[in-house]
Amino acid sequence: MKPNAPFHAAAEHQHRFELLVQSVMDHAIYMLDLDGHIVTWNTGAQRIKGYVSDDVIGRHFATFFTPEDVADGKPQRLLTQAYTQGHGQDEGWRVRRDGSRFWAKVGLDLIRDEQGQPIGFAKVTRDISERHEAERQLDQVRAELFQAQKLEALGQLTGGLAHDFNNLLTIILSSARMARKSQNPTRIDALLGHIVDAGERGTHLTRQLLTFARHKEAGHQRLDISQMLVTTQALLAQALPKRISLSVLAEPGLHAVDADPSQLEMVLLNLTLNARDAIVGDGRIEVTAVNLRLREEAPGLTGEFVRISVADTGAGIDAQTRQRIFEPFFTTKAFGQGTGLGLSQAYGFARHVNGDLRVDSVVGVGTTMHLLIPAASA
Ligand SMILES: Nc1ncnc2c1ncn2[C@@H]1O[C@H](COP(=O)(O)OP(=O)(O)OP(=O)(O)O)[C@@H](O)[C@H]1O
Ligand SMILES: [Mg+2]
Repeated sequence: MKPNAPFHAAAEHQHRFELLVQSVMDHAIYMLDLDGHIVTWNTGAQRIKGYVSDDVIGRHFATFFTPEDVADGKPQRLLTQAYTQGHGQDEGWRVRRDGSRFWAKVGLDLIRDEQGQPIGFAKVTRDISERHEAERQLDQVRAELFQAQKLEALGQLTGGLAHDFNNLLTIILSSARMARKSQNPTRIDALLGHIVDAGERGTHLTRQLLTFARHKEAGHQRLDISQMLVTTQALLAQALPKRISLSVLAEPGLHAVDADPSQLEMVLLNLTLNARDAIVGDGRIEVTAVNLRLREEAPGLTGEFVRISVADTGAGIDAQTRQRIFEPFFTTKAFGQGTGLGLSQAYGFARHVNGDLRVDSVVGVGTTMHLLIPAASA
C-alpha cells in the first residue's frame, strides 16, 4: 500500500477542497473554460442564479448577463481583461434563471496549469442587491436633501432680504414721523441723516443680493468693532422707543475681526430689535464687546475671540421656545410682526465667520445673546 499513500493523500485533499467549494452558500464559485463555457458549479451558484448544474454546465456564462450587456460585448470584455491581466472584475445587473435581476459583484481570475499554460477562469459572484439598493436609496436621499437645502437657502435669502428691508423701513418711517413732528432744525437734520443712512444701507443690500446671485463672497473686511459700535449706536437707538434705554460699551483694545460690516450691523440690529420686542413697558438693553479666549469649550472653538453681547431686561425665553429660536421662520410674534428669520440669519452669520451665537435667558428676568467672532490673525 505504501507507494500509493501520497496519491491517496492528494486525492483526499482534492476531494475535501471540492466539498469546501461545493458547499459555499453565499458565493457563486465556478470554473469557466478559456472560451467562457461553464465547467463546474457550486451550491452558492445554484442558490444565487437558480440553475442546477445539469442545466448550466457547458453553457456560455453570457447567459447570466442582461441582453443590453451582451449586446455591448461585456462578457467578452471581462474574459479578455482576465486573460490579459490575470484578473477581471465587474459590478452590475445579472439575470437569474427565472428572469429576475440581481446586482452582482464579480471577480474573474485566470487559472494556469503546472506548466503555466492558461486553462480556464475561476469565477466568483456575490449577490449584493441589498447593499446596492441601500446605496441607491442613500444617494436619492442625499440628492433630495441637497435640493431641499438649496431651496431653503433661496427662501432664506429672499425672506431675509424682505426682513432686512423691513428693518430699514422701520428706521426710515419712524425718523420721518419724528422729523415731521419736530420744530428743532438740528434734530430734524439728525433724523434726515438717519433716513439717508438707512436708504444707503438698502442700496447696499440690493448690491449684496446681486453679488450673491453671481456667487461671489460678500466683502469680508478687517473690522474695528469698537469703531463700528460707535457708528451703529445711533442707528440702534433710533429703532428703540423712549421707554427703553440703550447703553453700548466696548472694552479698550478689542481684537480686530474679519467679517462683512453690513452683515454684522444687520445682525446687531436684529438682536436689538428682538430685545426691544421682548421688553414690555420700561426696560434696558446693553450691548457690550469684550475679548475672550476660548479653549475648546465648544467643539472647534479655540483661540482668541471678540464677544458681542446684547442683553435685555425682557420676558426671557422658556426652554421649549429656546430649542427652536434659530430655526428659519420660527417666530412667536403675531402674523405680520415677525418673519422668524432674524436669529437664523444671525446664527448663519456666526457660523460663516467660524464663530458662534449663544443664548442665556431667564424667564421673567431677561435674555442675553452672545455673538462670538474669531479674532483676525495678526
Ligand atoms: N431677546 C429675546 N427675548 C425673548 N425672546 C426672544 C429674543 N430673541 C428672540 N426671541 C424669540 O425667538 C424668536 C425668533 O426670533 P427671530 O429673530 O428669529 O424671529 P422674529 O424676531 O420672531 O422675527 P423677525 O426677526 O423677522 O422680526 C422670536 O419670535 C422670539 O420668540
Ligand atoms: Mg427678530
